[in-house]
Amino acid sequence: MRETPIHFETVKDKIKLSGLKSVGRASIREIKKLVDNIEKATGERYIRMEMGIPGLPPSKIGVQGQIDALKKGVAAKYPDIHGVQILKDEISRFVKLFMNIDVRDEGCLPTVGSMQGSFAAFLMLGRLFKERDTTLFIDPGFPVHKMQHRVLGLKFDSFDVYNYRGEKLREKLESYFKTGKIHSVLYSNPNNPSWICFTEDELKVIGELATKYNVVIMEDLAYFGMDFRKDYSKPGVPPYQPTVARYTDNYILFISSSKVFSYAGERIGMMVISNNLFKSRYENLLEHYPSDEFGYAMVFGTLYPLSSGTSHSAQYALTAMLKAANDGELNFVDEVIDYGRKAKIMKKLFIDNGFEIVYHTDIDEPIADGFYFTFSYPGMHAEELLDELIYYGISAISLLITGSERSEGIRACTSLIQNDQMVDLESRLFRFKEDHPITIT
Ligand SMILES: Cc1ncc(COP(=O)(O)O)c(C=O)c1O
Repeated sequence: MRETPIHFETVKDKIKLSGLKSVGRASIREIKKLVDNIEKATGERYIRMEMGIPGLPPSKIGVQGQIDALKKGVAAKYPDIHGVQILKDEISRFVKLFMNIDVRDEGCLPTVGSMQGSFAAFLMLGRLFKERDTTLFIDPGFPVHKMQHRVLGLKFDSFDVYNYRGEKLREKLESYFKTGKIHSVLYSNPNNPSWICFTEDELKVIGELATKYNVVIMEDLAYFGMDFRKDYSKPGVPPYQPTVARYTDNYILFISSSKVFSYAGERIGMMVISNNLFKSRYENLLEHYPSDEFGYAMVFGTLYPLSSGTSHSAQYALTAMLKAANDGELNFVDEVIDYGRKAKIMKKLFIDNGFEIVYHTDIDEPIADGFYFTFSYPGMHAEELLDELIYYGISAISLLITGSERSEGIRACTSLIQNDQMVDLESRLFRFKEDHPITIT
């Protein structure tokens, strides 16, 4: 029997009972369940970095806005599918004030979480042109988007951006676009899981090629404003949240309220369709929709059959939060900046104990400290590393399920880690290093 920070035999038993062949290959939810069971059996608290969920209370302004709306009786009424007008106006103001882009209110749509926005967009984008049937993911990425493709029976291709930063991105993207099969591209920025952020030059490359090849860019801004190296929190004042929308007029933005307003439970997000795309007509759409106009087909042909709109009261919650942010009364970046502070401490503890950050730079600048970071341990594959770390009271997920080619990489999420756990993290990582000496070859 080995001596490990968490009782070895108990952990081993629980893994056996779970039926998992390897912790390193398990899904996020399987790891969650396993760690819940180990914590219960041992009474030990894990450093839980597997799930990307907000670790903060919901925005009070949102909660109050929602309560007020419920008291007024909105629960009894179907909301308009395209969203309540005051919300549409606030979304349009928000993207102007925090991104410096102009989008008419008609293209500003509430969705049931950003997840529904992407689902709806995937449904439509594969139907724009007869000859184009493939979505391109700039990976690493959020595995659920690929799951959405599988469930819809849609084709996708992907590449790991690790080796294609800067100008190299142009050639790589163009090699896909030239096939004539790609209708759209999706990436998240800041990126889940690696927390890399595209530079303005890279966004320009993506935007220019989107226009040249008439490809729609889906920019997932689930972590809006959370590259804390710059202050994107002041309405109407630069710097603005970087976006491809400044370099092409062929885009859809997904802006989640889950992380930035800690409002994941109410399942409300925003889909922002550029003025140009909203009005664009595609003959092929008529095979499935009442109109060949993209925006009309999105609202009345896609969101309608999916959910007939978004929770009425949650729309008022989002309206209240956006209005407060737009009016300069809610600094939403300040509310979440603690994730960055924790990431800085945690990354240092990992590095001090022999670990390495996998996605470590944005071209020539160290990556930001934020919601996620990635790490590896010399000489170990991700699966092996996760299988071992579980005995040291540390849980996370492998990068392999995110489309990354870095087979050594692990994703760590900072959100649930409490300040008083840093001491445990330090001692566990120290023990890990002692037990797994790094051999220099
Ligand atoms: C990159 C990315 N996109 C989308 C989502 C889902 O957002 P929502 O909760 O608004 O559906 C997440 C949530 O973790 C995410 O990380």
